[in-house]
Amino acid sequence: MDCTFIIFGATGDLASKKIFPAIYYLKKKGQIRNFSIVAIGRRDLDIKSVLEKSKKYIKNIDTKIFSQIVSKSHYFQLDFDDKVKYNELGKLIEKVENKNKSTNRLFYLATLPNFFEKISENLAKCGLVKNKGWSRIVFEKPFGENLQSARRINKTLKKIFKEDQIYRIDHYLGKELVQNILFLRFTNSMFESILNKEYVDHVQIILSEKIGIKGREGYYDQYGALKDVVQNHMFQILSLISMEAPKKMVDEKIRDEKVKVLKKARIEDVVLGQYKGYLNEKDVRKNSRTETFAALEMSIVNSRWRGVPFYLFTGKAMKKSIATVHIQFKKPKCLMGVCNYLPNYLSIQLAPEEGFYMQLNAKAPGVSTIVPVKMEYCHNCTFGPNTPRAYENLLVNILEGDKTVFVRTDEIEEAWDLIDKIKKNKLKVFSYKKGSYPLSADSLIKSRGSWHLKEK
Ligand code: BG6
Repeated sequence: MDCTFIIFGATGDLASKKIFPAIYYLKKKGQIRNFSIVAIGRRDLDIKSVLEKSKKYIKNIDTKIFSQIVSKSHYFQLDFDDKVKYNELGKLIEKVENKNKSTNRLFYLATLPNFFEKISENLAKCGLVKNKGWSRIVFEKPFGENLQSARRINKTLKKIFKEDQIYRIDHYLGKELVQNILFLRFTNSMFESILNKEYVDHVQIILSEKIGIKGREGYYDQYGALKDVVQNHMFQILSLISMEAPKKMVDEKIRDEKVKVLKKARIEDVVLGQYKGYLNEKDVRKNSRTETFAALEMSIVNSRWRGVPFYLFTGKAMKKSIATVHIQFKKPKCLMGVCNYLPNYLSIQLAPEEGFYMQLNAKAPGVSTIVPVKMEYCHNCTFGPNTPRAYENLLVNILEGDKTVFVRTDEIEEAWDLIDKIKKNKLKVFSYKKGSYPLSADSLIKSRGSWHLKEK
């Protein structure tokens, strides 16, 4: 797989933490050969210092491989508005392509969404997207900042690119255990037949993060938890957990089902929070009401799920980092005259542990006491610790032209529609101490139990 990675926003957090390390791992595994990076940023920098920042995010780095990547790469300083300089960028890309003998171009926009249209238009005006090989363009999330802006961006992109050239990333869809959800649901008849309102009491989707917003304060303060992770990662998981089986396990069919279920999703209740000390973070607006925590109760008004609450919980500066889906089953009042046992549940762990387990009931040895026991699948134990990380999976998919795990315009628009409805209400933002969360979030779920914030 040969190509030139042309990365806008290359000096940002995302590029150093995720994109460059993913390119390094692909190179190390021999999955990419003739490639080069053209890293684009607005500051006057050099490629060595730009790539150097990603070193600390690469485990057991092989410095020889890293140096090879640096020697093949270039930094290009560009003000995204400077139409004339895009011609110079074009010349640099051609030079790099001649050297690498590859004519494929992967444009990666790891920038704020307000640059998406400008950069795309300038690339098109200077003829950079009409080349000999393929030319694909990748947009990081969030795609827009509300329904209206997402629609406008989509309209602009349609004038420039064919839909099959556009890749809208949600890196959660590249995670192994997120990709596993559909297989777990639809290749195990025992699950498929019980994942519905007859058997499920409620579902929790948790994305709790110990980290705050360090290094991304300016961005975060404009977006907040709802737009940063709920609109995308959490709604994507919600749709995978609740959608009907696709007619075929192929991209369009899967996305058709995801959209159908999102159209049936409703917001029932919301609790927002902001951690104490947030207002003192650099680049955060004075009196900012940006939420760093959100808990949602949602419903899905279709025949499979009517009456089953879906709870979403996410926050920064939480006690623990954990991403999980907890599906709790209904507990019959008493069985064989025994009543003191816990309900069953299926827990899908996305991070930091990867795997899933079921909590069942069993008899303790020697006595007839009922105890909860776990049946577990540990991903790393089965496949080893080096299964590909999300961004590696996504880059491989883009290079292969496989769009299964990328987000379609209608999915994005449905998701924004739900967020706009919440935002419209200008809800109260509760304050919480770092390491905790607003108490009102407990009231939200109280009638069904409590938040499942533990790993196992
Ligand atoms: C990003 C959000 O999309 O996802 C971040 O912008 C968040 O705020 C991150 O921390 C979580 O991703 P992961 O892969 O670290 O769980």
